[in-house]
Amino acid sequence: MKKRTRITHLPEVRLPPDNRPLVAPIHQSVKFSFDDVAETLRYFGGQREGFYYSRVSNPTLRQLELALADLQGRDACVLTGSGVAAIALSLLALLKAGDHVVYFAELYPPTRALVRKLLGRYGVSSTMLSLDDTDSLERVLAATPTRLVALESPSNPVLKVADLERITALARAHGALTLLDNTLAGLHNHGEFDVDLYVHSLTKFASGHGDVMGGAVIGRGELVEQLREDCSHLGPTLDPHAAWLVLRGLKTYYLRWDAQCANALRVAEFLATRPEVSRVRYPGLPGDPGHALAARQMDGFGGIVSFDLAGGLEAGTRFTEALELFSLAASLGSTESLVVAPAMQQPRGFTAEQLAWSDIGPGTVRLSIGIEDIDDLLADLGQALERSRS
Ligand SMILES: Cc1ncc(COP(=O)(O)O)c(C=O)c1O
Repeated sequence: MKKRTRITHLPEVRLPPDNRPLVAPIHQSVKFSFDDVAETLRYFGGQREGFYYSRVSNPTLRQLELALADLQGRDACVLTGSGVAAIALSLLALLKAGDHVVYFAELYPPTRALVRKLLGRYGVSSTMLSLDDTDSLERVLAATPTRLVALESPSNPVLKVADLERITALARAHGALTLLDNTLAGLHNHGEFDVDLYVHSLTKFASGHGDVMGGAVIGRGELVEQLREDCSHLGPTLDPHAAWLVLRGLKTYYLRWDAQCANALRVAEFLATRPEVSRVRYPGLPGDPGHALAARQMDGFGGIVSFDLAGGLEAGTRFTEALELFSLAASLGSTESLVVAPAMQQPRGFTAEQLAWSDIGPGTVRLSIGIEDIDDLLADLGQALERSRS
């Protein structure tokens, strides 16, 4: 064969059966072939294992699915190219015109937009409540047949802790499914609750290094397989290299989680002593409204701390711009510390009542705590608080 041909049909390097890599390889291939048509058809018919096309399945993605399902304590997982894609896929796969969804004012804004705007266009109705108000949830579920309750715990950004036992019991009693965005809680938490589907942004704590985006939906096999079929038609596939980066990040997941939780608690305690700060929200603080629930529900209180500056929006802008170690940036859960200013996270389109539910005030700052030396983090926060005053 000529070079032009040989360069597109490279020799295969196979490992001997008793010779294994210690790190799983990246199967960076779109296509996987079988020896003949009959075997390909057997694969199509589900009569044999294998892979065919990476939008549908890929060995590297399969490896990550198994790891994530195990961490979350369920038997199946489907991966997507971002956390938002995991939420959108779940909603599109579970709901149809005429269905009703309950969701909460405290949810991550794109989730609220998906429920209200996108699903609204497809004839799905919804009711927004406060995560604190389980009595209203019970009333709505009793009055309106509901297909899905979509929630988050702790919520982003003010870290309200949902009463998972009560909410899942209410949903189950009224025949509704539950979808829990578990991103801020981490993959190892909440597995013992009667949640139907967990969604995660793998962009955050799972990968942990801020260099890759991804999402996952995790749950029992029968429900996840239903989603997987829609996923292959909708096409929000995770790339194998991204899956491999998440797999690599997962090896240090618990180390990072523990370090971030320990640093976050010290940050929350420090902020609570400062005169510029009118309120700190961190479920690890004994005085936090979510502390008792979080202590029962979670292993570690998480790496996010939010707090209110008494000086409001302007003080928030001065504070965030004065920080030197904390980067003013989106996202959370990485090894480096990040900050979001109050002006960047004011809810839009809320009534006064819904704004009160959201608990986001004019001076609410969100911090994502990294694994830096705690003394350096506290020194940076201290100097920025001084400078926030004028
Ligand atoms: C709670 C929560 N869910 C979902 C997402 C979306 O994840 P992604 O950015 O990977 O789409 C985020 C992102 O900040 C988040 O904080």
